[in-house]
Amino acid sequence: MNKYIYPLVDNPFRKKDLDKAIKVIKTRRITMSTNVNAFEKQFSKKINNKYSTMTNSGSSANLLAFQCLINPYRKKRLKRGDEVLIPALCWSTSLWPIIQSGLKPIFVDVDINNLNININDMERKLTNKTKAIMLVHVLGNCTNMKLLLKLKNKYNLTLIEDTCESLGSKYKNNFLGTFGEFSTFSFYTSHQISSGEGGMISCKSKDDYEIIKSLRSHGWSRDLSIHDKIAKQNKHLDEKFIFYNSGYNLRPTEISAVIASSQFKDLNKFKKEKNLVRDQIVKKFRDNILINNYLKITNATKNCDPFWFGIPMILSKKINRNKFVNLINKQGIETRPIISGNFTKQPAIKKYLKTIKYKLPNADLINENGFFIGIPFNKMSNNLSNKICDIFVKNLKISKL
Ligand SMILES: Cc1ncc(COP(=O)(O)O)c(C=O)c1O
Repeated sequence: MNKYIYPLVDNPFRKKDLDKAIKVIKTRRITMSTNVNAFEKQFSKKINNKYSTMTNSGSSANLLAFQCLINPYRKKRLKRGDEVLIPALCWSTSLWPIIQSGLKPIFVDVDINNLNININDMERKLTNKTKAIMLVHVLGNCTNMKLLLKLKNKYNLTLIEDTCESLGSKYKNNFLGTFGEFSTFSFYTSHQISSGEGGMISCKSKDDYEIIKSLRSHGWSRDLSIHDKIAKQNKHLDEKFIFYNSGYNLRPTEISAVIASSQFKDLNKFKKEKNLVRDQIVKKFRDNILINNYLKITNATKNCDPFWFGIPMILSKKINRNKFVNLINKQGIETRPIISGNFTKQPAIKKYLKTIKYKLPNADLINENGFFIGIPFNKMSNNLSNKICDIFVKNLKISKL
């Protein structure tokens, strides 16, 4: 039994999702095949992004985006030392693929109101070596995409949208993940839809798509539209085993594909239900004077229609965050940091990057005073939302500095 009355995640799988998985297992065809293909098409059609490739995780999708960007088959490719802007409030595997691909991350501060990349700081960090933006859409919310796209176009930057936390969110009626050259998604257990593990990378260019498909599967050519041509040029090789590119094995299983597909069909329904649960809690919090005084709940950015991943909030500096969070955890409300906080504070950074000299005050504030609670259920009782509110009030009072 879950020890929390309000956990970050509850069991995300419905009977109908699991029945589909069992049916696949019974066919004994578990490795990537027609169900993965079908889900990729279904995904592309709904999200309105031309080419989609399913992966075993969102992290793998991010790795593929950067490995594609530096790939020798790419006409306009990034070179060692090229700079990539990334918000300091990011996930580990939003960042590492940049470094693993020989590129240089430049950390940008975030906007305290929406937790997303700060456009002014982004503009300040641009140099003539800046070639790309790794945008992270935080917990369902986004930055001012109009201004971001203006900068992207003005400086001819490649945009990668890490949409791993924001599937189903929209900006001006377009899904997040449709603005950049690449976008990535995660179907990990706590996300908007889940297949346990799983991810997707979408892109706009057929050439990129072909590179990605080859990189996903060992670098071989058999999944590519130009496979016949390659086979003709390599008659000395068995055509099923022609290695045309470098590669990994980042493939998903058929089981993940059918579960993700089953959940994806109900994306709009999930969005409605979970956002309603959030609204109920947020209303209770906003109606309470004490909570309002000490806690700032993140709002949606103008023109963003989020599918909230959680309910992020920032405590006043007058509250001891760690004490407060420990207390509410003990009393049944599970919390976690907002993504990984300011990622430049993580010990791994020291091993891989030179000391970061510039200041990131908003990311610091979120690191020190931020946290989020989940939206584990698709329904919320009045009783439970009152209880959550009471636990917050009681512990805010005793966590004052
Ligand atoms: C912003 C962001 N990017 C990437 C990932 C990685 O996704 P996955 O867990 O599917 O590898 C996560 C994971 O939660 C994330 O929050």
